[in-house]
Amino acid sequence: MQVAQVLDGIAIASEIKAEVALEVARLNERGVVPGLAVILVGDVAASQIYVRSKVKTCGELGIFSEMITPAEAITTEEMLKLIENLNAREDIDGILIQLPLPAHVDTKRLLEAVSPEKDVDGFHPVNVGRLQSGQPALAPCTPAGIIEILKRSGIAIAGKNAVVVGRSDIVGKPAAMMLLNASATVTVCHSRTVDLPKVTREADILVAAIGRPGFITPEMVKPGATLIDVGINRITDAAEFERFFSGDAKREELFAKRGSTVIGDIDPAAFAVSGAYTPVPGGVGALTIAMLMKNTLTAAKARRAAAAVAGA
Ligand code: GUN
Repeated sequence: MQVAQVLDGIAIASEIKAEVALEVARLNERGVVPGLAVILVGDVAASQIYVRSKVKTCGELGIFSEMITPAEAITTEEMLKLIENLNAREDIDGILIQLPLPAHVDTKRLLEAVSPEKDVDGFHPVNVGRLQSGQPALAPCTPAGIIEILKRSGIAIAGKNAVVVGRSDIVGKPAAMMLLNASATVTVCHSRTVDLPKVTREADILVAAIGRPGFITPEMVKPGATLIDVGINRITDAAEFERFFSGDAKREELFAKRGSTVIGDIDPAAFAVSGAYTPVPGGVGALTIAMLMKNTLTAAKARRAAAAVAGA
């Protein structure tokens, strides 16, 4: 049997970031600096790590960034004012509200308050609608990253059976829509799907976005399929670690040192059955920030093009 191809998300992300940096440098020469505002409410540790990483990458690529960090107790009304202000600011092209927000604020209302032209997360209903009707749209970063991985790795999408496991608004649904737009035959599965293995075994491209460690087992995979693992699950249980990583010396060493490791939604044993797969870490996750940078650049260019037309 052939050895599966590892789809290196870090290398692809670097490629995209280099392309963005080049375009941003050209804009910078004309005195244009794309700007991203990131709103981080409260002190969720994981969110803080993500946001810091987003801000740092902006700096590396010549994009202005501003981090806004309201206290946990901020109200929906106060958040709306904040967003209104950012919508009106000339130096801000992209607005990102880091999720999850505290339960007492109305997340849906806030996401809808972001100007669709600055919605670099692609969560606004206008952008969801544009994506679904095949118009140019700011598309959610993680699914956009999946498409980039497939395209840049030379994996054909048109005519292939793509199965997406998970139907979240952030990943599953938009991933399905983008695969459909790229002419795949798409099936979306979820917790109520009957005989899931039967469906996943039909997949030429299998996208796992459910948030359950090692959920997709080798029996669920068609030999030679491309596996796209969106899951990022931290495991600390020694027995669970053994089940997935026994014999993996590098992981064992890290697990012994840190007491935890990160695993995707796909059992690593399934990789041997596949034709290609995204590792965790170093797969899809690496693309998310690169695509956010790309969306910020796209938003900056589109807004300035629109302003030029309006002023002409
Ligand atoms: N939290 C986890 N993933 C995301 C994402 O893609 N965008 C935002 N805004 N928050 C997130």
